Amino acid sequence: MSASRIAVIPGDGIGKEVMPEALRALTALSERHGLSLEYEHFDWACAEYYREHGDMLPPDWFERLKGFDAILFGAVGWPEVVPDHISLWGSLLKFRREFDQYINLRPVRLMPGVPCPLAGKKPGDIDFLVVRENTEGEYTNLGGRIFGGTEREIVLQEAVFSRHGVDRVLDYAFKLAARRERKHLTSATKSNGIAISMPYWDERLEVAAAGFPEVRWDKYHIDILTARFVLSPERFDVVVASNLFGDILSDLGPACAGTIGIAPSANLNPERRFPSLFEPVHGSAPDIYGRNIANPVGMIWSAALMLEFLGERQPACLAAAQELVSAIEHVLEHGPRTPDLGGSADTTEMGKAVTAALNRI
Ligand code: NAD
Ligand code: IPM
Ligand code: MN
Repeated sequence: MSASRIAVIPGDGIGKEVMPEALRALTALSERHGLSLEYEHFDWACAEYYREHGDMLPPDWFERLKGFDAILFGAVGWPEVVPDHISLWGSLLKFRREFDQYINLRPVRLMPGVPCPLAGKKPGDIDFLVVRENTEGEYTNLGGRIFGGTEREIVLQEAVFSRHGVDRVLDYAFKLAARRERKHLTSATKSNGIAISMPYWDERLEVAAAGFPEVRWDKYHIDILTARFVLSPERFDVVVASNLFGDILSDLGPACAGTIGIAPSANLNPERRFPSLFEPVHGSAPDIYGRNIANPVGMIWSAALMLEFLGERQPACLAAAQELVSAIEHVLEHGPRTPDLGGSADTTEMGKAVTAALNRI
């Protein structure tokens, strides 16, 4: 069997601190399960690469990455060096769009041992998947400024909702819901205020739903949906949303389940025509960078999602993925824990503990 090839991009800030912990776990799992994983490292980030080259990526980045099975990504963004819209449109958002990673899958789970900010919730009460549209919607660079610098200045920012783009994310989310025990789907909308794109989203939702009579579904305007996340998170199973709404829900969900420091994500090109990208939900966290106190679990759990994805070609990765999630659960429950979870362990201690926990399963 040929090796699965992984491009490793730690990026900026705590991306550089948490990535080694994911690689540590993957190396241990490769030995235990005889996995065949090959890595190539890329230093594409704001801090050094952009400073030196004036760009986030080399011109041949697409050619260099397209043959990989997966990209393991830390985080990008260092506003002191490059404005965020330049760095993110110059790297992460480019990968998502040009590799057609149109699904951003973001599991949200209250894990044993993680203090929940919501009263009375216990593990099992919060367990849902955010399916975020990842290539179009509100994230565009279409628009512009007219009458710039005058009192008549107008800024226009377009959103794009193609039938192809909307239908494929809804179809993915319904299929996912149909495979789950609760078979329930919630769609985020805002068709009362956003008068063109959101009624269209709702219209396509009804069309998609007709193909999945076994899935119960509902829809909520994004404002009340955020309130329901906080008040009754147990009611959610699969939540499908446009790019921006999904972005917001996928920080809110993990915050309701304790910390965004453990939240993982998979940017998927389900057809596997291009590499998929696995990254924590969080960013480069300049406020804590350099102290080695970032929670590495979001990154490590993202590596588990990657193994699950690689399992289609390399079945041994599936057992390895499960083992890694069990090791994460063990450490969250028994410690050591980083400060975001109320502990005093550092990133390396917590990461090493996850790798050590692999040996007890
Ligand atoms: P952020 O996710 O980096 O940080 C938000 C807050 O959460 C901070 O207080 C931070 O300390 C905390 N936090 C984040 N990850 C943590 C972890 N693993 N352990 C403990 N605490 C953690 O979001 P931000 O501050 O809005 O953005 C900072 C930079 O990161 C910006 O440049 C932004 O554009 C970028 N960003 C990148 C990505 C990405 O690459 N996927 C995602 C979000 C933000
Ligand atoms: C995320 C991030 C990105 C997004 C930013 C950094 C562009 O917040 O991955 O959730 O909005 O998609
Ligand atoms: Mn986000």
